[in-house]
Amino acid sequence: MIQVVYVLNGPNLNLLGAREPDIYGHTTLEDVENSTQQAGNSAGLSIHFLQSNEEGALVNWIQEARDKAAGLIINAAGYTHTSVAIMDALIAAEIPIIEVHLSNIYKREDFRHHSYVSKTATGVICGFGAHGYVMAVDAMAKLLKSDQ
Ligand code: DQA
Repeated sequence: MIQVVYVLNGPNLNLLGAREPDIYGHTTLEDVENSTQQAGNSAGLSIHFLQSNEEGALVNWIQEARDKAAGLIINAAGYTHTSVAIMDALIAAEIPIIEVHLSNIYKREDFRHHSYVSKTATGVICGFGAHGYVMAVDAMAKLLKSDQ
């Protein structure tokens, strides 16, 4: 059976393309979803791509992924740096996790250098813009193959 990978996006990523284009570029979240879906097709994975501005919705989807997904890719956006609840849900998920950020968070303000998500992730991809999602899908496909 085809393996499902959840790709979760946190707050303000719905504004991608319009929001701070000097940092995040002109690519919209719909563009990101299209390239992520294409990468999923090539890798033989079924991508479940979701975005919410709400912390609780993200926690609920992580809990859902625990039952329904083989792996999880997450750009928790601002919650990356604040959310113990998202970290706890990711720990409980017990599936491979890859953290993605469009920007290089280590080049930016100090408060972005700490990530609660990183404590749960197999790996982190940041600074490659929308292409980071494609890289994450490829990396997830490899992780899932080595799992079998
Ligand atoms: C981000 C980086 C975060 O620090 C920021 O709060 C975001 C987007 C990124 O993709 O570069 O909203 O996760």
